[in-house]
Amino acid sequence: MSGPKLIASVLNADLGRLAEVCEEMEEAGLDGIQWDVMDGKFVPNLTMGPVTIAAGRKVTSLTFEAHLMIEEPERSIEQYADAGCEYVIVHAEASRHLHRTLDAIKGLGVKTGVALNPATPLEAITNVIDLVDLLLVMTVNPGFGGQAYIETMKPKLAAAQNLIASQGRDIPLEVDGGIAPSTIRDAASAGADRFVIGSALFKGNGGMANVVDRMRSEAAGAA
Ligand code: DX5
Repeated sequence: MSGPKLIASVLNADLGRLAEVCEEMEEAGLDGIQWDVMDGKFVPNLTMGPVTIAAGRKVTSLTFEAHLMIEEPERSIEQYADAGCEYVIVHAEASRHLHRTLDAIKGLGVKTGVALNPATPLEAITNVIDLVDLLLVMTVNPGFGGQAYIETMKPKLAAAQNLIASQGRDIPLEVDGGIAPSTIRDAASAGADRFVIGSALFKGNGGMANVVDRMRSEAAGAA
């Protein structure tokens, strides 16, 4: 079992310097980049799409995951696979036929991810866990960076860890939202092993690499 994976969220980055930011994230030792795709309907923000991701694909070899915070994600999953994403993550709340959507993502030759909003119970995915390659437990209500970590997600994380253990497969348990040096240990101790980091990357003293190193040791220490 490899150690904690730290994934950069681009939502809070300076997208006017996208190429440099992707290179900086790779140099800082991050394990991947999460592209926060928002449609202004599923969440109250409108951000980026496959064209932006494809631009980032040209400048870094880091693994990409598309976090589709959009209604009817099944309509556009192929574009995110084509843009170079290893994982295509859909929200359980946004896909009326989640089993069919996950099967379609697999059919594209990429890995599936399912995200659960804070209010959504883990049971939303127990009937499709065999199709899940990554489980994302949101620790904020999606739409914006810089929000506070929701501590009450810990029981859901612990239950998710148990569900994953029952599958006998390596399914990353990812958290996203409010992950910072002060909260990552809490999430790791609850069972998370993949951490999406947004605004905290740009706040630390000593630059991104210093933040990454500190958070990696915090997460490893809790596991
Ligand atoms: C929220 C996004 C998160 C967010 C993370 O809707 O999915 O990825 O950008 O940003 P922080 O780490 O600042 O909460």
